[in-house]
Amino acid sequence: MDLPPYIQSLERCPTVPGEAALGAACRDVAARLEEGALPCLAIAGRDDDLPALEARAAGIAADADDVILAGTGGSSLGARALAALAPPRPAGPRLHVLDNVDPDTWERVTGGLVPERTHLLAISKSGETLETVALSLLAADRLGAGRATAIAGKRGALRDAFEARGLPVLDHDPAIDGRYSVLSPTGLLPALIAGLDARAVRRGAAAALDDFRAKGPESPPARGAAMAVGLDRGRGRHIQVMMAYADRLVPFARWFVQLWAESLGKRGRGSMPVAASGTADQHSQLQFWIAGPPHCWVTVLGVETRGLGPAPDGEGVPGHLAGRTLGDVMFAEREATVRSLAEAGVPVRTFALEAPDERALGALFAHFMLETIVAGRLLDVDPFGQPAVEDGKRRAAAMLGAMAR
Ligand code: PA5
Repeated sequence: MDLPPYIQSLERCPTVPGEAALGAACRDVAARLEEGALPCLAIAGRDDDLPALEARAAGIAADADDVILAGTGGSSLGARALAALAPPRPAGPRLHVLDNVDPDTWERVTGGLVPERTHLLAISKSGETLETVALSLLAADRLGAGRATAIAGKRGALRDAFEARGLPVLDHDPAIDGRYSVLSPTGLLPALIAGLDARAVRRGAAAALDDFRAKGPESPPARGAAMAVGLDRGRGRHIQVMMAYADRLVPFARWFVQLWAESLGKRGRGSMPVAASGTADQHSQLQFWIAGPPHCWVTVLGVETRGLGPAPDGEGVPGHLAGRTLGDVMFAEREATVRSLAEAGVPVRTFALEAPDERALGALFAHFMLETIVAGRLLDVDPFGQPAVEDGKRRAAAMLGAMAR
């Protein structure tokens, strides 16, 4: 299978703690893949579960103009990243993601919806996340019988409440953490409802995975992990900016931020991920990256935009803009920024996507999951679980229980 040409350049960087450690980390990750201990990635090679998922998505889409996805963190960021790819279409439901319990947002999103034409998709692995449980139960009651589906773990308040109401619950694989779950139904069911090709997402991910198996420490995710850890530990570059030069890819950058931060921010280690949007953040954050403390490095996600969109012409158009399309401007801005960064000594790598489609995004998902897992091995932290977050969840539940009614 051909690897999508998703990487244009990846500079080599001295690795910390060294090539031998990188080789050992890759062997360890490959062995875990072989043992079936990384189901978040192994699922890329499956398609036996997809017919049932496609049928369910078609049933929901046929019966709804709007779909509310209630889920937070890893239970919605992957779906958001995928859904952002969907082109505008004349028919088919609009997807609204509720990942926050702001009562104002609740009113704004649900206020205008027609209950008989809206479906709720409630996603929570633990089934206990307060925000998701509260939003889901409110929405389920507002929408009425049969208009909700959950994806949840085997136990928990969400499953109990859905089962008590006779609503369907799909199983969330207990071995897959939320932020690693985008290739499972949590990412793919919303993507299918949005009209995307889930099989292509998995195929893209499988290709990146095959490449990692074949090349090990020379594969792009391994080099990327070594670069990220090397820049952080060896050169004081503690902040990794993920800058998407396509609005459709900004939600992907946000997915990456959670993956990297929640997986590696442990035992006083890890580096700080920041999501950015090109070109807008050139006029917001770029000054700091180039001339602030030398703590940043930048990953650019770019798509081919040259020649796309309209070109200004007529009276008063400056000479360098005449006949240039919006896509030409985007391309020039991206290239100029990469050159400015490089010239200022800010490390920068570019992922060039020929087309930001399902297959390319699937490859990027697998790439960054692998990069994160290998980095975890290099940093000697467990990239799974999020104990610091769980503590806050427990405290919030206890506070609510103790509040006067
Ligand atoms: O990546 C993770 O596991 C977390 O971000 C969770 O997705 C998030 O905390 C929501 O948890 P749950 O899916 O249990 O509601």
